[in-house]
Amino acid sequence: MIKSTFGITKEPFNRSEPELLSQQKEILKLIKIHSQHGGFSVIIGNAGVGKSVLREHIEKLDKERDTVVASFSQTMHSYINILKQLAESFKIDVPVKSLEKELIHTAYRHIKDRKVLYTLIDEAHLMDITVLRKLRLLFDRFPKKHNLVLFGQRDLLYYLSMNVNEDIKSRITYSENIFPLNDENLEQYMMRELDAVGLGHHTYDTASVELILRSAQGNLRLCRNLSYSSLIEACRAGKRTVTTTHVNNVLVQPHWRSHEELIKQQVKS
Ligand SMILES: Nc1ncnc2c1ncn2[C@@H]1O[C@H](COP(=O)(O)OP(=O)(O)OP(=O)(O)O)[C@@H](O)[C@H]1O
Ligand SMILES: [Mg+2]
Repeated sequence: MIKSTFGITKEPFNRSEPELLSQQKEILKLIKIHSQHGGFSVIIGNAGVGKSVLREHIEKLDKERDTVVASFSQTMHSYINILKQLAESFKIDVPVKSLEKELIHTAYRHIKDRKVLYTLIDEAHLMDITVLRKLRLLFDRFPKKHNLVLFGQRDLLYYLSMNVNEDIKSRITYSENIFPLNDENLEQYMMRELDAVGLGHHTYDTASVELILRSAQGNLRLCRNLSYSSLIEACRAGKRTVTTTHVNNVLVQPHWRSHEELIKQQVKS
């Protein structure tokens, strides 16, 4: 509907491989610098601030000749399942009982070939901490230049700060918060999305942009969802400019109410 109303070939706020925003770019730069030495990195941020998009970009480094990336998102997995996924990323096929030995062996081989090794774990705050501790023991036997990057919400910091997890925490060499964006950056994000598909900056009138920013409170996902849904509302009404009427049509929907909790949490932290 958006495409036919505006006569465009791609929808804004719906791109499959968006470029990183400046905060994400900076973190990626530092992760790469730390990757030369190895160690654990921890990236913390509230729901919807852009952790997984950053993780997807690091995954793409796997295409480069000198980098091997193993990545997990379904962290409800058991230790054995994670080992199997690691084996898949390392392209090895051995029986379960020799998995650990073979993974360590392959990791050393990659380092000898001057490759950089990343293991990424998204949603790490949902992970069973005993699995994480087992992984820590495994990675202790990996070459030093291996990098484990954990992405998670704030609970992850809480788990890591517990005494029993001191062994994991003491191995962290880099950690960073991804913060909610300020209004200026969020507006730039909206304009960048419009630019990317050839829509003018006045597609949203000034009052509607203000209302979107006020409602999203710096949260990228909420800003994205509200901008996209408001644009659909405008198209449904046969309009080519989004006004507060269209934004309000979205804000009154019941699912939007439930975001208020998320925003409250975010403002507190
Ligand atoms: N660089 C970017 N360019 C464009 N859009 C982005 C970018 N980063 C994030 N977004 C938007 O923000 C949304 C939320 O990002 P993401 O899924 O990475 O959040 P998250 O921090 O992983 O949240 P959660 O903790 O809930 O998993 C994405 O679906 C996307 O629409
Ligand atoms: Mg995520």
